[in-house]
Amino acid sequence: MKILRHYFILILSFLLLSGCPSSMGVQVPFATTPMKVVDLMLEMAEVKKGDVVYDLGSGDGRIVIRAAKKYGARGVGIEIDPELVKRSRLNAKREGVDHLVEFREQDALTVDVSPATVVTLYLLPEFNRILRPTLRKELKPGSRVVSHNFDMDDWKPIRVETVDGGQLPDHKIFLWKIK
Ligand SMILES: C[S@@+](CC[C@H](N)C(=O)[O-])C[C@H]1O[C@@H](n2cnc3c(N)ncnc32)[C@H](O)[C@@H]1O
Repeated sequence: MKILRHYFILILSFLLLSGCPSSMGVQVPFATTPMKVVDLMLEMAEVKKGDVVYDLGSGDGRIVIRAAKKYGARGVGIEIDPELVKRSRLNAKREGVDHLVEFREQDALTVDVSPATVVTLYLLPEFNRILRPTLRKELKPGSRVVSHNFDMDDWKPIRVETVDGGQLPDHKIFLWKIK
């Protein structure tokens, strides 16, 4: 039930933010993943130095910045909103990891994810569904995909965790490993 509420909150934001970026008709508003959820996503994906973390729809850059700061992983944030790309670059500099991460103003549906060993997502179910063939084709075996709140339709996750949302709906985290 709580996951449905989350979905409705995102859809409501989308309706309110009618000018938000659109790709193939799928609009995803900006909302941040709480840091405790970011940390668990990175733990579940077993991120380590040597990994290359791609966050598709990277918002303020927090996921790749955290992966760089905590694990020394390299990261690429793909974000369609130029203001958020600028903010992410400033955040990376402030956190002292701008040598490890980069942010590209790009539509996530056009990105080549083949250099990634970990892909993180906080998009919408329809967007995840559209991304599936690209992820399956381009990611190397052993790569991990981790998604905040939304699954990948018929992909069976290898692990699912729930994080207490306090006054807000709980957070779900889904993990898949590419075979
Ligand atoms: C729900 S936010 C998640 C932000 C960040 N990944 C996090 O978890 O904190 C989704 C982000 O995707 C961006 N976005 C929407 N459509 C996109 C697209 N087609 N390509 C790249 N980014 C997109 C939005 O601007 C927004 O910043």
